[in-house]
Order: sequence, then structure tokens, then C-alpha cells
Amino acid sequence: MSSLRQVDPEIYRAIELERKRQQSTINLIASENYTSRAVLEALGSFLTDKYAEGYPHHRHYGGCENVDVIETLAIDRVKQLFHADHANVQPHAGAPANMAVYLAMLQYGDTIMGMKLAHGGHMTHGDKISFSGRTYNVVQYGVDKETERIDYQEVERLALEHKPKLIVVGASSYPRIIDFERFRQIADMVGAKLMVDMAHIAGLIAVGLHPTPVPYADIVTSTTHKTLRGPRGAFILCRQEYSQAIDSAVFPRMQGGPLVHAIAARAVSFHEALQPSFLDYQRNILANAQALAAELQRLGLRLVTGGTDNHIVLVDLTPIKVTGKEAQEALERVGIVVNRNSIPFDLRSNWITSGVRLGTPAMTTRGFTATEMKLCANLIFKVLTHLGDKVVEDQAQGEVSQWCHKFPIPGIDD
Ligand SMILES: Cc1ncc(COP(=O)(O)O)c(C=O)c1O
Repeated sequence: MSSLRQVDPEIYRAIELERKRQQSTINLIASENYTSRAVLEALGSFLTDKYAEGYPHHRHYGGCENVDVIETLAIDRVKQLFHADHANVQPHAGAPANMAVYLAMLQYGDTIMGMKLAHGGHMTHGDKISFSGRTYNVVQYGVDKETERIDYQEVERLALEHKPKLIVVGASSYPRIIDFERFRQIADMVGAKLMVDMAHIAGLIAVGLHPTPVPYADIVTSTTHKTLRGPRGAFILCRQEYSQAIDSAVFPRMQGGPLVHAIAARAVSFHEALQPSFLDYQRNILANAQALAAELQRLGLRLVTGGTDNHIVLVDLTPIKVTGKEAQEALERVGIVVNRNSIPFDLRSNWITSGVRLGTPAMTTRGFTATEMKLCANLIFKVLTHLGDKVVEDQAQGEVSQWCHKFPIPGIDD
């Protein structure tokens, strides 16, 4: 980065500080991960300078022969990874991927069903703060108050009553397995199309550690940067019959030229996900989440749904009288980065919240095992039950520094 340092010292300095921040903190944000050096190299390449509106071998610009190779590899690899008929790898991120599906499948004002944001869904699944809740007639389903798991009977009841054109499945903070087959049955009862947004769990699905939605869904969307461990970005998988509608919704109806450097980096991450070692990595994500959940429970914290089946542990802080915001800030002071999160039926606002969402993909990439996860759970518990205690916080920070030193970040430190 010697050129950057010379040309733009302010940006250089901010990037260097971010490097240090990442190196010196434990990252338990469930939607983040660390990409490999190879992914970062593709992302930082001169491919960023190329325009390539269109699709492989059907471009509106000259000079696309190498870009065609790259995008074709990305498509072929992601199809292989998820056993899909058709793939579009151009969406710049998860939200636009979902928007493209709605554009392809719906008319403005049509009825869709999606999971409530407050119960773990994503805002693009019909929440009023997003375009999706303003453009379509939205019916939202949630989790059962007792079990805190998706209430499939309620989904069925709502579907029969409102006859949605599209049922959207998927979540941002739901720690349990999602029954895609059951959603397919409900969709079929009312003639709805089924879209699954597997953004969070794509890595687990790729290796068979979470049931795949591909045989059941008409369309599957995903981000590339969570458990899948790719660069920021997204893709859409669909049955062949929807391929034209999806492709034309992405370009030209919604986006312009694809980000070719980002597609190349996605292709590299799909290649990495196809390697046998990716299965071990995903197994470790699950083992670490189990260890984290079990130890937090042993210490007396309440977990939403009583545990986890995936990479997410959603902690209800109400019993220890700490808000999500206070917890996030206290943990950040000692170098543990998490995000505050609403829990189902939360009595607090979504700015304050009663919970924190913890995730294991990033620290598993750095080599954390169940042993470190257990120690981490103890550190979290101590900090949260001694809020603002300088002695406890200083000691915790010391431990975090030691672990961070011991577990370097592959893309940065290799
Ligand atoms: C389930 C789900 N879908 C979509 C998105 C949106 O992804 P992006 O932030 O890349 O737009 C997220 C992001 O957290 C998500 O959790």
C-alpha cells in the first residue's frame, strides 16, 4: 500500500487503523468473516476498471473476453456448490439481490409474506423501513411466543387467509434450522412462489450441515460474505424457467455494469468453498457455536430458543438487567465486538434492544476452538455482570489482546 500512503495519507491511515482494530479485537458479529488473501487480491485488482454491462458472451462493451471467463467460472462454481440450475452472480449485495427477485416475480402492490424483522427476519423481507414494505402488500409471520421458533401453523393460517404471491423465507437472527420443505407445502397450498434468502447459513448449506432450500424454492438468494466467507456481494439461484426473468431484473432493470473485481473475488471464494477443508471449517463453526451456547447457559444466561443449530447465539439479557446497547458498548471497551439485537417480543426499542447476537464464523476462521469459545463465554459473562467495573474490564482487555495475538487473521497476517 505504498502508493496509497503517498497519494492519500488520510485514507491510508484510516485503513491502517482498521487493520489494527481487526487484529486486536475478537469479532463475534454473526454476519462478518475474514476473507483469504487470494480473495482480497482479486478484489483489489485492476478488474475494477472494466465495464461489462450484460452477461458472458453477450456484452454491451468490447474487451470483455477475460471478464467472460471470470463470470462464467463464478456462475459454474456457485451452481456446483449448491446444485442449482441457474445462477446470477451480479447483485452488488444482499438487499439488491432480494429487490431483483421481487422485480422479476411481482407487480407493485402484490401480496408477499416474510418474517418479521423484530423476530429475526431481514428488513428486505417486507419491513416498512425498507422498499419491500412500501412497494408490496406485506403480511408478516413470526415465531411462537413459547418456543421462539418459527410458528409454521401460523404461517399456514396467514397464507391461506392472504393468498400471497410470494413467500419469503430466511432470517438474520434465527438460531434454528429452517424447514424449507414445510414452507414449500404451504406455498403450494395457496399457489405462491417460494423464495429463500439463505444469506446467513449459505456456508453451512454448501457442505450439507443445514438442509438445502434449492430443491424446494423457486428462487434462492444469498450474500457471499457471512458463513460462506467470500467478499461482500450476493448471488441468485433459480430454476431454469425463471432464469431470464431474474437476469433481466438484475441487469438492466435494477443495476448497471457488474462489479467485475467483486465477481472475480466471489469466484475465488466459491473455489475455496468447494475444497474439502471447507467442510471442516463449517463443522468447527457449529462446534464453536455449541460450546459458546452451552457455556453461556451454564453461567446462567438465557438464550433465545434455548440454544442453537447454526452459527448464531442470541442472548436475552433481560434476566441480568442489561440492555443490548449497554452490553455491546461494554464488550467493545474490552475488545469483543458484537451487535445488539432485538429478541422476539422485545419490550425495548430496536435501538436499545434486550439482546446481543453472537456468531462464530469469523473467530473460527482465526482458529478458535471450543476451548477458546468457552473462555470467551466466561469473559463475556464477567464483563456483563460487572458493567463499568474498570478492574474487570482492564483484565478482560488484557486477555483479549493475548488471544488476538495468538490467533492472527489469515487475509491480513499471512
Ligand atoms: C438474511 C439477509 N438477507 C439479506 C441481507 C442484506 O445483505 P447486504 O447487507 O449485503 O445488502 C442480510 C444482511 O445482513 C441478511 O442477513
